[in-house]
Amino acid sequence: MTYRIALIPGDGIGLPVTEAALQVAQKAAPGLLDCVTFPWSCEHYLQTGRMMPEDGIDTLRGFDAIFLGAVGWPAKVPDSVSLHGLLLPIRKAFVQYANIRPHRLLPGVEGPLRKQGFDILCIRENTEGEYSGAGGRVHVGTPDEVAVETSIFTRVGVERILRFGFEQARKRRGKLASVTKSNAQKYSMVFWDELTHQIAADYPDVEVSHYHVDAICARMVMAPETLDVVVASNLFGDILTDLGAAIQGGLGFAASANINPTRSAPSMFEPVHGSAPDIAHLGVANPIAAIWSAAMMLDHLGAADAAARIMAAVEATTAQGIGTVPGQDRTEVITAAVLAALD
Ligand code: NAD
Ligand code: IPM
Ligand code: MN
Repeated sequence: MTYRIALIPGDGIGLPVTEAALQVAQKAAPGLLDCVTFPWSCEHYLQTGRMMPEDGIDTLRGFDAIFLGAVGWPAKVPDSVSLHGLLLPIRKAFVQYANIRPHRLLPGVEGPLRKQGFDILCIRENTEGEYSGAGGRVHVGTPDEVAVETSIFTRVGVERILRFGFEQARKRRGKLASVTKSNAQKYSMVFWDELTHQIAADYPDVEVSHYHVDAICARMVMAPETLDVVVASNLFGDILTDLGAAIQGGLGFAASANINPTRSAPSMFEPVHGSAPDIAHLGVANPIAAIWSAAMMLDHLGAADAAARIMAAVEATTAQGIGTVPGQDRTEVITAAVLAALD
């Protein structure tokens, strides 16, 4: 059995961390992954005028999974062009509505909260909400200019992400934190709260808490051990998961899976972080987030043993103090340590 994987290394540190993740995945699951690399990136945009070809989505549809490094090089291509030309359309077209982002402290990592262990699974809505793309600008450049960015929350979209969150909570410690800003946003977030209450009736075994997004930010820093599964809208989930990365010790540790739970189209795996232009030429990008994302991909494809072996190797690596301090170890040193720990 082999799985066909579309690799999109993208920009900046997306390239070295993708290479590292694939080396580790190939070693953990020899012969399982048959990879095709696509050079879609800001560089590709500058050469062709497109982030991906017109039939890019159709091309990707034939794969079992997509692995992406990072997209964006704002000095050359505006983010509004690069992200709307590649990453965001893939999430939408393939209905990868559940973005799963685990946050826990790896052994040996001196995160800001080292004394408190925690294990949070953030479930981010990934196809609508604040990222609907609906809106516009009028009277551009005049004193009367107005910009509108409309959030769209559908019953189908909110219900399915909430149910996904409840299911995950059931498999873990039975606690679900639903995140809104329903004290200020009286339509979308009140709707989200109502649906949470309704769906909770189907999951009497799950303990539900409601947090405003500002309050849960403070809780993630001060008492992360009190949280289990956290479910949030697209934008709130985006912000909470960089915070989650920070309490893990840095962006280099946070993994993510963009899942289509019905499996009607490929899912996509990528670290939470971006292309990190500030360190892209230094050779010190931490590949652990990408390696962890590759483990999530193997798990999704049914290779749970290989995924577990990768995570054990990552933990053995950080436990030795390798890759634990941002910028301290070179990418290839961390990768070599994980590869060695796989033996
Ligand atoms: P970023 O995540 O690229 O970087 C934020 C900070 O974290 C930087 O200081 C960076 O050096 C550090 N960092 C990130 N990953 C790291 C790693 N693996 N090891 C060590 N340090 C790491 O966020 P940004 O600077 O806001 O964005 C840069 C570009 O990436 C932008 O174009 C942005 O839109 C894009 N972006 C893309 C994705 C994606 O493709 N999924 C995600 C986030 C940002
Ligand atoms: C992420 C990123 C993207 C997002 C950006 C680059 C559009 O920050 O995957 O977390 O906001 O979803
Ligand atoms: Mn983000």
